[in-house]
Amino acid sequence: MTKRNCARRQHTEWATGKDDKDMTKVDVLLGLQWGDEGKGKIVDVLTPQYDVIARFQGGPNAGHTLEFGGIKHVLHIIPSGIFHTDKINVIGNGVIIEPNIFRHEVEALSTKGVDATQNLYVSKKAHLILPTHRLLDAANEQAKGNAKIGSTLKGIGPTYTDKIARCGLRVGDTLEFDFRERYELLKAQHLRTAQTLMYDVASFRIDGMTLDEYEEQWLDSLSTLKRFRLISSEYFINNCLREGKRVLAEGAQAAMLDIDFGSYPFVTSSSTVTAGVCSGLGIAPSAVGRVMGIAKAYCTRVGAGPFPTELFDQTGSLLCELGHEYGSTTGRPRRCGWIDIPALRYACMLDGVTDLIVTKPDVMNDFEHIKMCTVYKIGDKLTDEIPFEYNAVEITPQYKEFPGWRQSLEGVATYNELPQNLRDYLAAIERETGVKIMAVSVSPDRKDVLFKE
Ligand code: GDP
Ligand code: IMO
Ligand code: MG
Repeated sequence: MTKRNCARRQHTEWATGKDDKDMTKVDVLLGLQWGDEGKGKIVDVLTPQYDVIARFQGGPNAGHTLEFGGIKHVLHIIPSGIFHTDKINVIGNGVIIEPNIFRHEVEALSTKGVDATQNLYVSKKAHLILPTHRLLDAANEQAKGNAKIGSTLKGIGPTYTDKIARCGLRVGDTLEFDFRERYELLKAQHLRTAQTLMYDVASFRIDGMTLDEYEEQWLDSLSTLKRFRLISSEYFINNCLREGKRVLAEGAQAAMLDIDFGSYPFVTSSSTVTAGVCSGLGIAPSAVGRVMGIAKAYCTRVGAGPFPTELFDQTGSLLCELGHEYGSTTGRPRRCGWIDIPALRYACMLDGVTDLIVTKPDVMNDFEHIKMCTVYKIGDKLTDEIPFEYNAVEITPQYKEFPGWRQSLEGVATYNELPQNLRDYLAAIERETGVKIMAVSVSPDRKDVLFKE
């Protein structure tokens, strides 16, 4: 450690009266399947136990739904602790922000009486999604033809590409005198790329607007962003930990969409696993505490890519209809299937999950039988590993069957009051993954989460 760093550290210790061994840790909550497991709802429910809620990756491709008091709210970039006005919410450096979508989200909160400028801080290092990043997303998808990923078209891939290529623009750059000049240079580069992809820029629309019309709004929206406290979130979070504050990191997407470990290339462009918390918030691995992983009692996936337990029959349609499985961001119907234990085990391993949370068993209340894929058959071999050739090989899921519970879960107040057949199914999930269930969610509403004693 240099002399200067050492002095600064001593100063922090003196200020907080703590040394490193007294630091609190960042708890993590993230998705274990292909997204939409109910992360937003559970973060909202857990927020009273924390001081700070911080998003660490992803962007407006996420759609996190919260329901309480008869209202439903979908958040895309803003952390799901925002409705608890006494808690700080942080958009970390690993997140990417589309200023126009951000402004709409801030305005929607304001109509619900929440003034986000009071308790939302934004990392200066978070990268910006430009209108032309969204153009490139559409151009890339078009160029891929049948091999398209099914991106949410929010500009995620192109923005993270520029971040890694070291030519992106960050929130803090908007405060610099030459921001507009740098914006125009990057935009021109994007337009050249769109041309090489043979993309018809003139016919491109976002929310019915041409690129120029949308850009005008986008540039206006920067002023909304500047009204927030723009911070070095790595210092903020680490100081919170030194002060003994409790921090919850909120994931977006999920392990099976991770850039490294998901079914590449049918993935998103960020590290959705626990490792992403360290780079997305600027904390050390030793500062990670509990890792709460969420899984639906079945599986869904939006967009293209492998999904071994997908159902193409009436049961699949029932899961979609009863579970209201339509994308919170794009409205697309989600593909549905039985729970996939090999994928879940993989996610638990990658994430170091300490506690499981299971959502939406209520969707299967009327099912006579429920199936659980415990192992894959590839050729004549059984395996519980996710193969490198996940996209290319034919996987035949091997199922265990469980009797349904055939009753409503409405009014069930404790975990132990859940029907025995459901508890048996949950116990099987615990056995198969080797991780204990911490809570079960039985409706979209905030009040319906049953914590296991
Ligand atoms: P997220 O992206 O992980 O935050 O999840 P989404 O909000 O995209 O999708 C989850 C959907 O399931 C939302 O519509 C929630 O309101 C709903 N939901 C969450 N938990 C439950 C549950 O336990 N039961 C039912 N029926 N719906 C739930
Ligand atoms: P939350 O946080 C479900 C999927 C897209 C597409 C792929 C790449 O609500 O769980 P992208 O726009 O990132 O380039 O799309 O990833 N995808 C999601 N699916 N939930 C999400 O977020 C998702 N975010 C991206 O459908 O297949
Ligand atoms: Mg979602």
